[in-house]
Amino acid sequence: MEYKITSKEFECFRTLIYEESGISLGQQKQSLLESRLSKRLREIGLETFSQYYDKVTRDPTQEEFTRMLDLISTNKTDFFRESKHFDFLREVILPELMPTKRIRIWSSACSTGEEPYTIAITLIDSVQNPKEWDFRILASDLSTRVLAKAASGIYDEERFRDMLPGMLSRHFLRGRGESMGLFKVKPHLTSMIRFRRLNLMDDEFPIRNPLDVIFCRNVMIYFDRPTQETLVNKFHHYLKPGGYLFIGHSESLQWISHPFMPVAPTIYQRKR
Ligand SMILES: C[S@@+](CC[C@H](N)C(=O)[O-])C[C@H]1O[C@@H](n2cnc3c(N)ncnc32)[C@H](O)[C@@H]1O
Repeated sequence: MEYKITSKEFECFRTLIYEESGISLGQQKQSLLESRLSKRLREIGLETFSQYYDKVTRDPTQEEFTRMLDLISTNKTDFFRESKHFDFLREVILPELMPTKRIRIWSSACSTGEEPYTIAITLIDSVQNPKEWDFRILASDLSTRVLAKAASGIYDEERFRDMLPGMLSRHFLRGRGESMGLFKVKPHLTSMIRFRRLNLMDDEFPIRNPLDVIFCRNVMIYFDRPTQETLVNKFHHYLKPGGYLFIGHSESLQWISHPFMPVAPTIYQRKR
């Protein structure tokens, strides 16, 4: 069966997606949405996009909404993606926090977990005596599906092709038998991270103590400028004076109004 989305249906989905997730789909994305969602309609035996819209909006658990978002946005990520951020964490931020030996980091669109685990590895591997430090990472995403994968901490061997063998064996357990080819994050990393579902569009975040660093990488690219501006100004509120915001390498804060100081490409600091 061929599925065709009408302009009116597209407009309904576009508005819903923008209002709930901040993701801004241009008019030219109609055929992309049609092809991505057609598969799902077929899978669950629906005949029209209007029927699917009803299903998505009537589901109080938002599970179907999450599934739909996973189909239209990308969860692509990697260990040590955009590695300069982790160098900065090791070389600049950790030395600054030496006196207190306490660090609070938020990976705010963590996808399947490679980003927060990379943060944890960087922290542990960069200090002399990790037991003396108080490391805490909040890792969040809108998608419960990616969060479940992140919390499981299990990854295919091919995800580690660029990781040094010593680092891999320090932080991951190699699967045997049925789990051959899989690696599982060791508990010393998982115990540093708390995973939870958070929507960056929420007015407030459940974060009580000011943060040292926020990672918000490769998600703002889906948001329009007003949405980016609101979000970046919210982040400012949750950071300590002197705290840092990392954004993706193809993202920029150049065209939005914000109080941050740029300190390196894609790294911003809240003024002290
Ligand atoms: C491309 S991944 C980025 C992963 C990681 N930060 C990185 O740079 O490798 C984008 C993630 O943003 C999430 N996302 C999209 N809209 C969101 C929102 N409104 N609130 C929280 N997460 C959102 C998606 O579910 C997806 O997992």
